[in-house]
Formats: sequence, structure tokens, C-alpha cells
Amino acid sequence: MHFLGFIKTQNLIMAIPTSRTKEKGKITIDENMCEGCGNCIKVCKDFTIYLEGKKAKINENSLFGCIACAHCMAICPTGAIRVHGRELSANDLIHLPKKAEMTGYEAFLAMLLRRRSIREFKNKEVDQHLIDQILAAAVTAPMGLPPSDVNVLIFKGFEKNAAFAKDYSEYLKGIRYMTSPLFLGLMRPFWGKENDEMFKGFINPLFKAYVDEMKNGHNYINYDAPLAMYFYGTPYSDPADPIIAATYAMLAGETLGLGTCMLGAIHPFIQNGSKARTFRKKYGIRYKSREGLFVIFGHPAVKYHKAVKRTFASVDYVN
Ligand SMILES: Cc1cc2nc3c(=O)[nH]c(=O)nc-3n(C[C@H](O)[C@H](O)[C@H](O)COP(=O)(O)O)c2cc1C
Repeated sequence: MHFLGFIKTQNLIMAIPTSRTKEKGKITIDENMCEGCGNCIKVCKDFTIYLEGKKAKINENSLFGCIACAHCMAICPTGAIRVHGRELSANDLIHLPKKAEMTGYEAFLAMLLRRRSIREFKNKEVDQHLIDQILAAAVTAPMGLPPSDVNVLIFKGFEKNAAFAKDYSEYLKGIRYMTSPLFLGLMRPFWGKENDEMFKGFINPLFKAYVDEMKNGHNYINYDAPLAMYFYGTPYSDPADPIIAATYAMLAGETLGLGTCMLGAIHPFIQNGSKARTFRKKYGIRYKSREGLFVIFGHPAVKYHKAVKRTFASVDYVN
């Protein structure tokens, strides 16, 4: 109780905001069903629940206010807890797959080792049911703060993706000044040596490939893929959120037999300036955001015979 007394002083007026809601979640506990196991209290890191007389009770003056993560509802063995608000309701509790239905480490690692970024696709569209399966897997990705602030824009079909690549190539022409020696010279004091090196060594040739090669009929932007998904955040979201969701989508695509490749060179160039705003508007991109990632999918037209060993930049243990 002493500790809870401290928390009471932290009473915040506003709930943690996301683009979708600024309200707190609401928890209700049926005391007749509560057996006082205390598991809900263990998993709630907001100190929203406490135990009194062997019954779980709500602390109205918790740390942040309930974010409706629903861990309390999911862990309750008797179904005594209901969470609603923040776009969640008690109906959002879904069947928990059995442990035996899970993939084990060996199968998971085999899938990861077999995955290669694929940029060559068969002339075959990706069926809607595969798109639905990818989305169903990607939406399970952990999110910084529920409800997820990740937006997904889907480019379905060869035609739409080819048109987008052409359009993006034209758009890049309009901001090609960014690769000029004058612009880079002016920017270097502001964005530093690493960015300067990155522009000279990577972004300049990238513009060349994206703009000049498109004229030669080579699409290096999305490689004539039949499906692309753009995962992007909002001004509220943690920049990692869309990247994690995109990674889940990529791995889901792999399990469905699709080839996938992340495309990192679209999002950063459609964030700043009026041209970027117009471009975003044209495609119905709802927000500018710190991070975002395209993932392309398609039926692979190539087959690899070996996996490739990868290394981290460093792996250290803290002494
Ligand atoms: C954040 C991110 C952005 C990427 N952007 C591109 C891209 O724009 N174009 C591309 O061809 N590949 C892109 N890739 C794919 C990498 O080039 C690829 O992972 C690398 O070639 C290693 O191959 P692997 O994925 O088969 O291990 C990106 C990968 C990541 C993680």
C-alpha cells in the first residue's frame, strides 16, 4: 500500500496518445469470478491492478493509465477481467494455439537460413488469400504502445507496382539536386561525415540506378514485383514499430513460399518538403513518419543452393 500511495501522486491527466486514441483503457473485474491468483498484477507494469482481500481491484491512479495491452485479460484463468477502450474490447480475446502447433527453433532457423532477398519474380500475381495471411501474421508484431500506430499501404498487382516505380523515378528526378556536389558540400557541416560518405557512396549511385536505369527499362526500385506493402508510422509512433511489422510480414511471406525483399530507399525520400507531401497525398499515405519500410513479395523465379553466413558488427557481453 505504501508503494501504491507513491503511485497515486503520479496521477496523469492524459492517457498515452497514439494516432488512433488518446483515451485510457478501462478494466472491469468481476469479483465473484476473481480467485485472487494475482497473475494480472504481476503482468501489469502500469500498477493498474492491486490485490485487496484476495480480490483484484483497480487502482485509478496508476502510472501511465491503462494502455489496453490486455495482458491482464489474457492471463486471467477464470475470465474475470475485461478490458475495453483504446480500440479494444473483451471480444478481442482469441483462441490461443497449442504449444505443439508452434514451430520449434530448428524449423525457425531453417526458414531464416533459407530466406534470401528475392528480386526476380515469376509472371504470376499474388493471390488475395496470401495477402490476408501476411497481414494476419504481421499484425501480431509487438507494438510500442497499443493500439498499433503502424499503417500499411498495399500495392496489389504488377500494374500498380510498375506504375508506382515509374512515378517514383520521375519524382526522384525532381529532387535530384540532393545529389549535386554543391548541395552535399552545403549539407556536410550539418549532417556530418558519415552522411556525406553515405550520399557519395550509396545515394548518388542509387539515384542513378533508380532514375537513369528506369529510362533503360530496368526497374531497380521495386524489381517489377507483383505485390508491395509499405509499413509506416505516425508522428506519435515509435520509429521501430513499422520496421518490426515489416519484418514479420517478410518472414510470413517466406513461410508462404513467396520471395520477399525490403526496400529502404523510398520512405526517407518522401518525408520532407512540398513535393514529398504531394507524392504522399497522391498515394493516400496518411502521415509523414520517422521510419517506414516497403516490402515486395512475389513468386520467386530463382532458387538458391546455399545459405550465406552473416555476422553482426559486434557482439559484446557487459562485464
Ligand atoms: C532496411 C533494409 C532496406 C533494404 N533496402 C533495399 C533496397 O532498397 N533495394 C534492394 O534491392 N534491397 C534492399 N534491402 C535488401 C538487402 O539488400 C538484403 O538484405 C541484402 O542484399 C542481403 O541479402 P539477404 O537479405 O538475402 O540476406 C534492404 C534490406 C533492409 C534490411
